[in-house]
Amino acid sequence: MSKQRIAIIGAGPSGMAALRAFDTAQRSGAQIPEVICYEKQDDWGGQWNYNWRSGIDKYGEPVHSSMYRNLWSNAPKEALEFAEYTFDEHFGRPVSSYPPRAALWDYIDGRARMSDVKDKVQLSTAVRWVEYHREEDTFTVTVENLKSGTTSSSEFDRVIVSTGHFSFPNVPDFKGIETFTGTLHHAHDFRGAEKLADKRVLLIGASYSAEDIGVQAFKMGARSVTMSYRTRAMGHDWPEGMEELPLIDRFEGETAYFSNGESREFDAVILCTGYLHKYPFLSTELALRSQNNVYPGGLYRGVVWQRNPKMYYLGAQDQWFTFNMFDAQAWYVRDLIMGRTKLPPAEERAAHLKQWRHRFQSLEGDADEVQFQADYIRDLIGATDYPMFALDEVVQVFLDWKTDKKANILTYRDKNYRSVMTGTKGSQHHTTWLQELDDSLERYLSTPAPTEVPSLVIAERDADTGAAAAAPVA
Ligand SMILES: Cc1cc2nc3c(=O)[nH]c(=O)nc-3n(C[C@H](O)[C@H](O)[C@H](O)COP(=O)(O)OP(=O)(O)OC[C@H]3O[C@@H](n4cnc5c(N)ncnc54)[C@H](O)[C@@H]3O)c2cc1C
Ligand SMILES: NC(=O)c1ccc[n+]([C@@H]2O[C@H](COP(=O)([O-])OP(=O)(O)OC[C@H]3O[C@@H](n4cnc5c(N)ncnc54)[C@H](OP(=O)(O)O)[C@@H]3O)[C@@H](O)[C@H]2O)c1
Repeated sequence: MSKQRIAIIGAGPSGMAALRAFDTAQRSGAQIPEVICYEKQDDWGGQWNYNWRSGIDKYGEPVHSSMYRNLWSNAPKEALEFAEYTFDEHFGRPVSSYPPRAALWDYIDGRARMSDVKDKVQLSTAVRWVEYHREEDTFTVTVENLKSGTTSSSEFDRVIVSTGHFSFPNVPDFKGIETFTGTLHHAHDFRGAEKLADKRVLLIGASYSAEDIGVQAFKMGARSVTMSYRTRAMGHDWPEGMEELPLIDRFEGETAYFSNGESREFDAVILCTGYLHKYPFLSTELALRSQNNVYPGGLYRGVVWQRNPKMYYLGAQDQWFTFNMFDAQAWYVRDLIMGRTKLPPAEERAAHLKQWRHRFQSLEGDADEVQFQADYIRDLIGATDYPMFALDEVVQVFLDWKTDKKANILTYRDKNYRSVMTGTKGSQHHTTWLQELDDSLERYLSTPAPTEVPSLVIAERDADTGAAAAAPVA
């Protein structure tokens, strides 16, 4: 019997988890299918592969990553740690709980390099179209080699979609926004807050992008930061100079009018209005359509496309857990593909899906969502040989994180938590997050003498309130 052929689309953390899952099976002596992973960027790492470009990349493709300079993890690394490759193993010593992007990129890259699977990844190769043939029960995957511009098609038995869902910006319209005279971007195109020094900044949205770009702007000396919410304010105890107001009613030139009748003038607007699930290489029967939530409809166990169970999605959920959740999903999908786990019939899957969707729809608040996602991961790991870990303790790490954020949105990244994998507590970074302006791996791993710490924007702020006193010096 010929080997099954599996296409993985995207080599971000989810696609890398899939590669690792097959590799682990092979190392334990199993015969694995033929696996090919297509990645449109020049390297793997997905969102973590920083791109200074915005809009269109050097191949004329939409830029994938939405990350920016000075992006530090927004949740403790202890919540995303791989159960089979720990931070201790990677760095050889304790590191702090909120690493910068480059350190997390190094961590996922380290695990994947250990697996020696890069030869299964065709880099700089964009998937253009996936066609399912009912009679043959196979897929044709058409790709473009972006370097040579050549297209080619191959047949596969199964397809794993791991292209992420934080790349296609959701860009709503606001009355009069075309008259706004300042700079105007979506968070996807934001690359750093330095230019926001001394500016009056408006962020539309009330989730992680608004929160993090807001504190970045504050850190870099913005004159004021206003965040506008549609449904619910984030409600942090914001420092002086940061505020939350309800939704925009309209813009008139540099003035924004809010639905509570207040108005403000701004120099810069950033739409932190989230992202769309978008799969331009898939037809309607295969493409997931969903809001950003923790249990999208149409996916049995969050991964199997109910309308065609030979197609899988990894990482399609909104994410509290990230890297270890992608692992749990990848291990489960691998086992389905390799016949180690049986896929129930369609009606049973539909009932299971309905039950989990029902629970998802009754969730109230963040703590409930975190517990839900922990239970979801436990359910998946229970069906595989991925190492089970203390998920309820990770839930507690999330709850402590939330408490620390509530206590102080500017200092929560200076806290450290204990790994449930190794028991190691995160070490104190040599510089507080508010003072740290260098997000390189070298600096993160260095132990500079106090005099080496650069003089900082915060020095220009009121010591009690943190408010910007004047244009900062960096
Ligand atoms: C601004 C921002 C900050 C974040 N910060 C954190 C954080 O601090 N901690 C955390 O745990 N998570 C964070 N996340 C969540 C992040 O999405 C996940 O950590 C993770 O990157 C998701 O992995 P993924 O592989 O599912 O998707 P992605 O990382 O998005 O990777 C998808 C890959 O698919 C490729 N691809 C897309 N289309 C095609 C195609 N047609 N053909 C070939 N390849 C294709 C892309 O190039 C990319 O490499 C953040 C997300 C954003 C947007
Ligand atoms: N490491 C970091 O520091 C960092 C930084 C940024 C982002 N991230 C990650 O990036 C991912 C995406 O986060 P996100 O904040 O961009 O997206 P998100 O969590 O999906 O939130 C989207 C926000 O946009 C609002 N919104 C949508 N349409 C709107 C409209 N028409 N008018 C006004 N508001 C509207 C939503 O409001 P409603 O609540 O009303 O729907 C919501 O507040 C998350 O995984 C996050 O963790 C991480």
